[in-house]
Amino acid sequence: MPRIADKVTNMETDGIDAGLLKSIEGKKHELDTLRPFPPEIVRKLDEQFTLEWTYNSNAIEGNTLSPRETDLVINRGLTIGNKTLQEHFEAVNHKQSIQFVYDFVKKKKELDEALVLEIHKIILKNISDADAGQYRNVNVMIRGAVHLPPSAVKIPALMAEFFAWYYEKKSKLSAVELAAWVHYKLVYIHPFIDGNGRTSRLIMNLILLQNGYPPAVILHIDRRKYYQVLQEADREHYTNYFNFIGRSVERSLLIYLNVLKSKDDKEDRYGYISLQEASGLCEYGVEYLSYLARTGRLKAVKLRKNWLTTREALMDYIENVKKNSKKQAKADNEAVSPNSRPKGNG
Ligand SMILES: Nc1ncnc2c1ncn2[C@@H]1O[C@H](COP(=O)(O)OP(=O)(O)O)[C@@H](O)[C@H]1O
Ligand SMILES: [Mg+2]
Repeated sequence: MPRIADKVTNMETDGIDAGLLKSIEGKKHELDTLRPFPPEIVRKLDEQFTLEWTYNSNAIEGNTLSPRETDLVINRGLTIGNKTLQEHFEAVNHKQSIQFVYDFVKKKKELDEALVLEIHKIILKNISDADAGQYRNVNVMIRGAVHLPPSAVKIPALMAEFFAWYYEKKSKLSAVELAAWVHYKLVYIHPFIDGNGRTSRLIMNLILLQNGYPPAVILHIDRRKYYQVLQEADREHYTNYFNFIGRSVERSLLIYLNVLKSKDDKEDRYGYISLQEASGLCEYGVEYLSYLARTGRLKAVKLRKNWLTTREALMDYIENVKKNSKKQAKADNEAVSPNSRPKGNG
């Protein structure tokens, strides 16, 4: 059996399938080429994901509000008959935690212990205020799991180890692997008396959001599978766990791409891309691209006040520049190198 400390610090033995990671990173790249996103679409996506994420994360934990009821509670401030006050608080608190995470990411702040405690504090607000934002001081079991979380006295030290690990690894692992590890390590330590799953999923998504990914939603209908892959991870078989998280990241990327691509590319801009998007695809800044467009070197059209181009036109321009600079380099080379001068006619 590995020491608990090993579980918290040295677990990068096996990970996500290379093919899946490549597919995720490819979709992420595609998403990045569509930036900046139209604000009204972002707002709708955020709203949709806030509801999905709140409903599913709470349902996994045992909350019985349906998706529609969750919507009424968090977006309309309504109460649902026959549902406990606690279930209402869970929904409202979760929405507030998501807002907190988004704000945190916007401010470009760094994950630390205070943040983990702050999120947990919101999760248990009005439900168990004495435990909210506090590490547990009793030992616990996880219902439905074999894994017995570490004894309460070890938690401060294990969390310190966790953060040391995190700061060391955060620039070395892919965002998806980092997020998945963070989630697993936190549920493994189980630092709180309750709310560990919800808090850990919020922090996992905080890392994804910090890296420009959409949040991953572990679906309530996948709860059994989720518990199964966590149990495998407890036995140090991590691949299925990683792929499970990876697929949920991929699912969110697909939803984003689907919404952003159809609206943006096909209808509004007839397949053109803005110079800002073009700039994201090459080494040139927007101003230089605008100069190229104005002088006709980059094929572009003007729609209202903005220049629009296409991916193809941009690639065409870049290829031309490369070809010409090769030609130029060859000419320069021939001019200075005696060996490359044509022989026999000097
Ligand atoms: N075998 C396991 N190993 C580690 N963590 C687990 C395992 N099985 C379940 N969990 C985690 O424990 C969480 C439940 O703990 P709990 O403190 O009640 O959180 P919450 O109240 O947010 O659901 C699950 O959501 C899951 O993330
Ligand atoms: Mg619970």
